[in-house]
Amino acid sequence: MMLRRTFVGIVSAAALTLGLGGAVSAQETMKVGLILPMTGPFASTGRQIEAAAKLYMQQNGDTVAGKKIQLIVKDDTGVADVTKRLAQELIVNDKVGVIAGFGLTPLALATAPLATQAKVPAVVMAAATSTITEASPFIVRTSGTLPQNAMPMAEWASQNGIKKVVTLVSDYGPGIDAEKAFSGAFTKAGGQVENLRVPLQNPDFSPFLQKVADAKPDALFVFVPSGVGAQFMKQFVERGLDKGGIKLIATGDVTDDDILNGMGDVALGTITTHYYSAAHDSPENKAFVDAFKKANNGMRPNFMAVGGYDGMHLIYEGLKKTNGAGGQALVDAMKGMSWTSPRGPITIDPQTRDIIQNVYVRKVERVNGELYNVEFATIEDVKDPVKAAKSN
Ligand code: PHB
Repeated sequence: MMLRRTFVGIVSAAALTLGLGGAVSAQETMKVGLILPMTGPFASTGRQIEAAAKLYMQQNGDTVAGKKIQLIVKDDTGVADVTKRLAQELIVNDKVGVIAGFGLTPLALATAPLATQAKVPAVVMAAATSTITEASPFIVRTSGTLPQNAMPMAEWASQNGIKKVVTLVSDYGPGIDAEKAFSGAFTKAGGQVENLRVPLQNPDFSPFLQKVADAKPDALFVFVPSGVGAQFMKQFVERGLDKGGIKLIATGDVTDDDILNGMGDVALGTITTHYYSAAHDSPENKAFVDAFKKANNGMRPNFMAVGGYDGMHLIYEGLKKTNGAGGQALVDAMKGMSWTSPRGPITIDPQTRDIIQNVYVRKVERVNGELYNVEFATIEDVKDPVKAAKSN
């Protein structure tokens, strides 16, 4: 009783000194500006990340280190100029302490200078070109990088009798990263590669698929951003490539959990490498998938959702470490942080602010009537290989 009274006394004295105890002031709120493509061709990314961020807050409350967390969601429609304008408004008018989201590489790159100028941490939850973390010292990433996923695919292919590959990637940052990482590792292992690039906007895959049919490689390696895989798969079937004996290999972006089950049997047997599958066998993931589906009318979380969920965790845990301070202190607190994500163990690399994570080799299989990326091999603690090579 004595102890308790003393403790209460100290707390209220501290509260008085700090001027707390009254109505919640603006200072006690930490606003997080979540900028996402909520409409347009990449709307599934926005829908998944928003749902995951809200789930995290539902499960963990909206107060951290004495700060009330307020999430402000803005739709950039996937257009870089809009992302940049929204970030500016959020920073200047709403005085957000963190900006987050970034559904595509150009959106993250356009906004990076604002994070630097304003000293506002920017949590990249989706975009995956290697260089993004180098565009601002205030960027921290919870998604992953294309080289991180594509290099293990090249290694698996060369170890599994595949000698000749055609790569087909969306013609922008992450696609070029995927092409280079895959081709570099695959040719180093003695393989032969031909590279094709398809426009990002309104892609028509058929002329490229005709070239693939003519080249008759052992395998076709594909990267398209989350959400576009269904369109690719449809044209793959229409061109008859599913029957041509050309093996389909890809990064997990193509067989993204949001659209995989709608692809049908054509997707069966596709081998991909990636950091997240909704079928990942761990108690943390089972709890995450169940809660996410329950809160979202049965929608299955994809890797974008996990990037959003972990991004919120990073913000929450960072604020606990800084006692609610933002800016440079918050970025510093995020560096080196480790935890068990639904995807498995992850760490924010203290040198690069990028993510270190397991990459899994998976095969599309039917499980309880639904298509899933079933993991069958793990490459542990993979750093972004592009930045790792630079630091050597
Ligand atoms: C990106 O634009 O960086 C991006 C988008 C979707 C993906 C991967 C990368 O699935």
